[in-house]
Amino acid sequence: MPHSSRILICSLLSTLAGCSTSLDPSLEGNSPTPEHQPSAAAAKALAVKPATGPAAPSQNPFAGASFFVNPSYAERVLTSIDDAPDKEAALREVAKQPTAIWLDRIAAVDRVPPALAAAAQQAAAQGQPRVPVFVVYDLPNRDCAAHASAGELRAEAEGEQRYRSEFIDVIAGEFARHPEQRIVAILEPDSLANLATNMNVPKCAESADLYKRSIAYAIATLSLPNVYLYIDAAHTGWLGWDGNRSAMAAIYHEVLELAGGTDRIRGFATNVSNYNALDGNWGWKLESSNPCPSEYCYVEKLNETLEAAGIRGKGFLVDTSRNGVAEARTQWGHWCNIKGAGLGERPAIAPRPLVDAYYWVKPPGESDGVSDPKAPRFDEYCVSQDSAPDAPQAGEWFSSYFLELVDNANPPL
Ligand code: GLC
Repeated sequence: MPHSSRILICSLLSTLAGCSTSLDPSLEGNSPTPEHQPSAAAAKALAVKPATGPAAPSQNPFAGASFFVNPSYAERVLTSIDDAPDKEAALREVAKQPTAIWLDRIAAVDRVPPALAAAAQQAAAQGQPRVPVFVVYDLPNRDCAAHASAGELRAEAEGEQRYRSEFIDVIAGEFARHPEQRIVAILEPDSLANLATNMNVPKCAESADLYKRSIAYAIATLSLPNVYLYIDAAHTGWLGWDGNRSAMAAIYHEVLELAGGTDRIRGFATNVSNYNALDGNWGWKLESSNPCPSEYCYVEKLNETLEAAGIRGKGFLVDTSRNGVAEARTQWGHWCNIKGAGLGERPAIAPRPLVDAYYWVKPPGESDGVSDPKAPRFDEYCVSQDSAPDAPQAGEWFSSYFLELVDNANPPL
């Protein structure tokens, strides 16, 4: 789940042609404008039926509850004991942390029923809800401005239809089968932010309406009384600038209207798979023009921008999986397996105003992208001067890098 290779440039140049956001006022009619015309082979746009059921629950889903701990993540963590027997105690501590379950392909939807069953068991043992967090991540033409996390669905191969019928509808069916369980879902990291700043990339421009319709469909379909939806909101190194935040808020508003209204979601997730520390002025060493040198500053400013755009009363999730070391990077635009990074704050419920939870959305130890230039989905950002060498494909276990994150954990384990 990388961030676009053009993020920083476009963040800085967001008022210049090529990086500015161009909203498509015809979206509500679901017809692509000529300048955003998908490639000739693309399928016809599908309509979105706005949700009409009860609005999304508006309280913090974690209040009066605790986190579901994913046993599959714990298994991955414990495999690294073989590589570092001296770190066993620390690794066992990491294995107890809650991490998100990524639904990153149609086949991964199989992860939902066992996770919900295990969450129900943990809840029964403890006498309070255990809330699982899923990342819904299989948009057609995924990762339009980078390569490392390109997905399986393509617009020209019925991607829009398949996203709906084989992915979102199936997930919604599983969620609806457990109305007594609270469920959190984070929608499509990076996608809408790419539309705010990377419309100069042809794949993003071509995919803009498809992204908006597909995410609106996901919101409308997953809008269930027990499901708390958060839309991805990138991070301060991408959208911290005033112009970028306003462009983003306008896109959210448009998508939410298409989905049935701003009350369909609980909130927004920030810093997903990124490395921004919560506090401090470290960001100004990277980019002094960004009004938000830290992730929490971004959450506060984003909330103001959203409220001004009519999106009010939202909660935020902040990914603290790998943000323990504030100054690990030489460039803010670097996003792939950053050397010197460390595990950040442990997941925590309502740690400060506006924040529903600090959460480990990116399971630490899973790669951001492959570093072998000959491998499929190679992205040059995965061999940046800040990137750890010998990285496997995105999502695969990267033990040596994981052990570095553990060593640099802040707070320490
Ligand atoms: C990346 C990968 C995805 C994986 C996720 C979490 O975005 O593309 O497959 O599930 O990271 O590690």
